[in-house]
Amino acid sequence: IKIAAIVPAAGIGSRMQSAIPKQYLTINHKTILEHTLTRLASVKGIDHICVAISPDDIWFSNIQLEPTRFSQVLGGKERADSVFNALTYLKEQAFDWVLVHDAARPLVQVDDIEHLITQCISHNQGGILASKVKDTIKRGDTSIKETVPRDDLWQALTPQMFKPDELYQALLLGAKQGAVITDEASAMEFSGHAVMLVAGRSDNIKITTPEDLTLAEFYLTNSKD
Ligand code: CTP
Ligand code: MG
Repeated sequence: IKIAAIVPAAGIGSRMQSAIPKQYLTINHKTILEHTLTRLASVKGIDHICVAISPDDIWFSNIQLEPTRFSQVLGGKERADSVFNALTYLKEQAFDWVLVHDAARPLVQVDDIEHLITQCISHNQGGILASKVKDTIKRGDTSIKETVPRDDLWQALTPQMFKPDELYQALLLGAKQGAVITDEASAMEFSGHAVMLVAGRSDNIKITTPEDLTLAEFYLTNSKD
């Protein structure tokens, strides 16, 4: 079974409000992107990793990567465009599965990724890491309209794992029909595919705002890998 990973790393990180894109901020002597790539690269089943970077990127070339295991493609306007470009690049290599993982999630644990891979392969179905919502969730604008029952609410994490051809077609259809695509699963759902929820650790956060950096530093300092 041939498995590739795609890492969308072409965003500008506007919510981080830092001088450089957040994936290039340094935590414990390594950039966030390097932490992410190191973890993905230590997953046994992953044969190749394709990183989508911005045309304006002046940082990626400073990262040392084994050329046989990594490739790079240009990202696009939205995250889904970046993923689509990588899928297009990988098409000829006939991977059986592709995992898409945010550059901005360096805290993902190898165990969780391997569990996702095992589940998707054994059920022959796409799936995502997700964690059950812990907070009480309100719907509203300036005041509360309602409390949303949370027993079946999940936070979508990454990696998200699919058959590359199915994801490619789903992203095409979603774009053509103007669907709101914020992750790979939403494109697959829009195309009518069933997507498995695979419970993962809730500390697999997406580094988004400045306060996330403090948490990420804590976790990266105190975790084994
Ligand atoms: N991403 C990408 N191409 C884009 C937009 C985002 O590859 N056109 C990547 C980001 O680099 C990040 C991941 O998708 O690794 C998740 O996106 P997000 O956390 O939203 O990052 P940014 O879009 O960079 O941040 P912001 O939304 O705050 O601007
Ligand atoms: Mg974004």
